[in-house]
Amino acid sequence: MRLRIWPVLALLLLINSCKTNVPAGSKQTVDPYRSQVDSVLALMTLDEKIGQMTIFTTDWESTGPTIREGYQNDIRNGNCGALFNSHTVAFTRKLQEIAVKESRLGIPLLFGYDVIHGYKTIFPIPLGESCSWDLAAIEQSAAIAAAESAAAGLHWTFAPMVDISREPRWGRVMEGAGEDPYLGSLIARARVHGFQGDNFNGTDKILACIKHFAGYGAPIAGRDYNTVDMSMRMFRDVYLPPYEAGIAAGARTIMTSFNELDGVPSTGNKWLLNDVLRKENGFTGFVVTDYTSINEMVNHGFAADDKHAGELAANAGVDMDMQGAVFQRYLKESIAAGVVSEKTVDEAVRRILRIKFELGLFKDPFKYCNEAREKAEVFSQANLEASRAIARKSIVLLKNDNKTLPLTKGKSIALVGPLAADRENLIGAWSGAGEGDKCVSVYDAFRERAAKDGFRLTHAKGCAIQGDDTSGFSEAVSISRDADIIIAVVGESKEMSGEASSRAFITLPGVQEQMIKELVATGKPVVVVLMNGRPLTFPWIAEHAAAIVETWWTGSRGGLAIADILYGDYNPSAKLTMTFPRDIGQVPIFYSQKNTGRPYDPNTKWNSRYQDIVNSPQYPFGFGLSYTTFTYDSLKVSGKQYTFKDTIVASVKITNTGSVKGEEIVQLYVRDLVGSVTRPVKELKGFEKVMLAPGESKNVIFKLTSNDLAFHTADMTFKAEPGTFWIMAGPDSERLQKREIRLIE
Ligand code: BGC
Repeated sequence: MRLRIWPVLALLLLINSCKTNVPAGSKQTVDPYRSQVDSVLALMTLDEKIGQMTIFTTDWESTGPTIREGYQNDIRNGNCGALFNSHTVAFTRKLQEIAVKESRLGIPLLFGYDVIHGYKTIFPIPLGESCSWDLAAIEQSAAIAAAESAAAGLHWTFAPMVDISREPRWGRVMEGAGEDPYLGSLIARARVHGFQGDNFNGTDKILACIKHFAGYGAPIAGRDYNTVDMSMRMFRDVYLPPYEAGIAAGARTIMTSFNELDGVPSTGNKWLLNDVLRKENGFTGFVVTDYTSINEMVNHGFAADDKHAGELAANAGVDMDMQGAVFQRYLKESIAAGVVSEKTVDEAVRRILRIKFELGLFKDPFKYCNEAREKAEVFSQANLEASRAIARKSIVLLKNDNKTLPLTKGKSIALVGPLAADRENLIGAWSGAGEGDKCVSVYDAFRERAAKDGFRLTHAKGCAIQGDDTSGFSEAVSISRDADIIIAVVGESKEMSGEASSRAFITLPGVQEQMIKELVATGKPVVVVLMNGRPLTFPWIAEHAAAIVETWWTGSRGGLAIADILYGDYNPSAKLTMTFPRDIGQVPIFYSQKNTGRPYDPNTKWNSRYQDIVNSPQYPFGFGLSYTTFTYDSLKVSGKQYTFKDTIVASVKITNTGSVKGEEIVQLYVRDLVGSVTRPVKELKGFEKVMLAPGESKNVIFKLTSNDLAFHTADMTFKAEPGTFWIMAGPDSERLQKREIRLIE
């Protein structure tokens, strides 16, 4: 017979409830939740403990094979402590009721979901948002996503994804913040804070989950899930910092990655989970695996079978098994055999229960179940406006010959391309509960303007995103001949980037480029509007289009934001956070490369170069144009020689020399000329976004300490080394002024 002790447990917890207003991620030495957690733990059977260490997807949707059905029984029997892919108040309430009212102990469930760039109101994809370099806006977008999710019954997002990546073939670059660890770390912090806030006292914050720990963004050959193999120095200097920043910002959960690192899959990597995560970084939250990544250790050739894989994961420090049911099936046996200790299980369960306490779920398991709030918050007008605002900030102007843009009001427009009238793809990959059909397309936005402003607008699709059908070209060309200007909206479908969406060729798919060639042949100026989830290669277009605008996947109000940019109602201010290669053969290509013993010289043979292409990218990291122009006065540094205790002050005066107001992202880079190990030719160490009216100037000041010059030295200690450095500033990673300084002991 089922013991109906929920009221008993509630009472017990009430007695024990001391302080609960503890900041999220608090590292206080005396754990204020300890006695409450222990009082629950003391009531639990081993099966129930293992249940807390288990998360299943409901059958709402899934990202892989659903291993186990009948999750309702798992909840009822205390065999599952968390669920994902279940949302909306109505659905989560139903499931929570089973947990609270029908399970023996009534321990509330945790509901997780991939809210990557919005729940229902969809924001630009994270890679796009990162191009805004606007930390406040990025935090706001995460905060809105959290508020909508929390209103829809969710407690937990599997975000932010903070994997650094220099691999445009890898489809998941769309989920991250690009190639740079400095910017990536700041964005990780902003996103964690946006999702979690300072605490969970209210009802509008959800748990963040830093993923995928670790190094997932560097798969060999850009193939998703592939092996990762890098030096420890590269790992610590480049790939690890954003995870650490997210942890330092208080992220309460972390997800292991699918990949191996130096031969050890992350999900069974004790060094990673125990030493790096918990000991070095003081992480106090819980570790969840990625989808069946325990089971996959068998395929990796690291575990003999699922049971063995579960033992490796538990002993490495995994707290929760996502979807693999390995803990559920085997952990008890492994404990009986003495391969995993019950103490290990208790620790894992403590971490999970603690977070349920932090969220306030023991006090009120239905805290996030409020239909009225859900109705008011989700897809609200205010959220949609915010999505449009950040979409504008994320759009990068890559080319603008002869001031083709902004569009002159009144001119007739031919709007062509497979994505011009498309709504579905605007939400991009990993778009939560987003509904593509509710997006505003570019054509929708232009039609609205045409009706208001009275200009002539024609539209033809021209071709599909993929496939070789060119039968629509003639219509596209014919409407283009009659227009003053052609806007071609082309790119990838949302399924072409994201998980399991690696591409060996990162060109415009199908016959889209061929169509653009025909449009250019009309002699009319062609504005190419790109929608995609990764850097693409399009050298012919880069040379022949009059203007190019990289919009990424802009979200629910994408079309409106794009029209705002094209008409100059918003002056583009975004800059690339991933290098755009000229050709796939240059990949991996990134700005912070090493100099090598034979640095690039296009005029001689025996140096680090290609026979058939230059080394430089199509568009470098940090690049983006504006409708105005900015000039940089000469860069000043406060001195020539600094000790380790000094502050290096660099300043540069920026003037808006154009005729419209605009925002510039001023960037600061450093180079350590000689090290105990070689150092990159440039590393971003600061930036500032400055808004300037025409003719206005501002002195932008950067302050660096020796810590900003530190790296993992020959003996792997993190410190700066004395010597000569370049301090560089400019509008992107290529156009830089430099000053030399010395750092002395
Ligand atoms: C992805 C994760 C995601 C999980 C749950 C996996 O396939 O790699 O990023 O959070 O599925 O949906």
